[in-house]
Amino acid sequence: MTTVTNPVITVRPLRESDIEAADEVAWCALEDVGRRYGFSLGERDAARKAFARSRIRHLGATDPEGAVVAEHDGAVVGIGLGLRRGSLWFLSLLAVREDLQNAGVGRRLLEATLDHGRDCASGMICASPDPKALRRYGRAGFALHAGYESVGVADRSELPAGLGVRDGDWDRDADLVDDLITERRGAPYGPDLGWCREQGIRLLVRDGGTRRDRGVVMCHDGHAGTLAAASDEAAARMLWAAIAETPGEVTVGYLVSGQQWAIDVCLAARLPLKLIDSIAVRGMPAPPAPYLPSGIFG
Ligand SMILES: CC(C)(COP(=O)(O)OP(=O)(O)OC[C@H]1O[C@@H](n2cnc3c(N)ncnc32)[C@H](O)[C@@H]1OP(=O)(O)O)[C@@H](O)C(=O)NCCC(=O)NCCS
Repeated sequence: MTTVTNPVITVRPLRESDIEAADEVAWCALEDVGRRYGFSLGERDAARKAFARSRIRHLGATDPEGAVVAEHDGAVVGIGLGLRRGSLWFLSLLAVREDLQNAGVGRRLLEATLDHGRDCASGMICASPDPKALRRYGRAGFALHAGYESVGVADRSELPAGLGVRDGDWDRDADLVDDLITERRGAPYGPDLGWCREQGIRLLVRDGGTRRDRGVVMCHDGHAGTLAAASDEAAARMLWAAIAETPGEVTVGYLVSGQQWAIDVCLAARLPLKLIDSIAVRGMPAPPAPYLPSGIFG
C-alpha cells in the first residue's frame, strides 16, 4: 500500500455518522496486525459488525470526551475510544488506517483519549502486539505486562466436578458483578453492564458460602472474559465453567504472569498458549488479579 506523505489530518470528536467508517478502519488495521503477528479475527458477519458498531456508539454516548476520530480528505482514517469509570481510565480502541500509520496520528488520538482521563488515578490498556502500539503506550508512562492468549477446543477430561456455577441474572446479580469488578480493578462497569446485557452476553456466577468463594464471568462469541473473582480458587472455577459452556473453539486472553491460576486451567484443558497479548497499566502496581479483562471495557 502506498504511504501518504505529509497528510493534513484533523483529530476531532466522534460523530454518529463516523461510526461505520471508524469501525471499518479499526477492523482493517487489527486484521492486518493479526496477519503480521499470527492471530486471526475470524469471519466478520453482519452480527459482528453490528456488535462492533454498537460498542463504538455506546462509548461515544457514555464518554463523548474520550471518543475521537482522525479525518483526512473528508474520510475517517483513525479512531480512539477512552472511557472513564470511577477513577480508572481504559483505552477501548485505537487504530489508524494502514497507509497513514507511523506518522504521529496514533499519538494524537491517544493523547486526546488520555486527556479524557486526566484526573484518573489509574489507567489500563489491553494492547495488541503491534510494536507501534506498545511503543506509544510505554512512552505514555504505562508499564507493559506481556501475556498469553489461548485459543482452541478444550479437552474436558480434567474438568472438575461440582463447579458450583450457575447462570447469572443481569438484574439480580448486577451488584455482585460490579462488586467483584470493583474489588479487582478499583472501578465498576456501571453503564457497560447494561450494554453487555443488551448484546446477549452470557453471565455465569458463583456465589459460594463465603466472600472468597464468589466469582463472575461473561461469555460471548467463543470468548471467556470479563472474569472477576474473590480468590484464585473461585476464579479457576469460573474459567472452567466458561470453557465448559463454550461449544467449539474458546478464546481466553490477557493471561499475564500474575494470573497463574488461569494459565493452569488452560494447560489442564490442553489449550495452547501463545505470547501475543499485553496489558499496559499505570497508577497500579500490576494488572488486576484474579481478573481477566475484556478488551472493550477493561
Ligand atoms: C497502534 C497505532 C494505533 C499507532 O498509530 P500510529 O499513527 O501508527 O502511531 P504513531 O505514528 O503515533 O507512533 C508510532 C511509533 O512507533 C514507532 N515504530 C514504528 N515502527 C516500529 C517498530 N517496528 N517497532 C517499534 N516501534 C516502531 C514509531 O517510530 C513511533 O514512535 P515515535 O513517534 O516515538 O518515533 C497504529 O499503528 C495501528 O492502527 N495499528 C494497528 C491496530 C492496533 O494494533 N491498534 C492498537 C490496539 S491496542
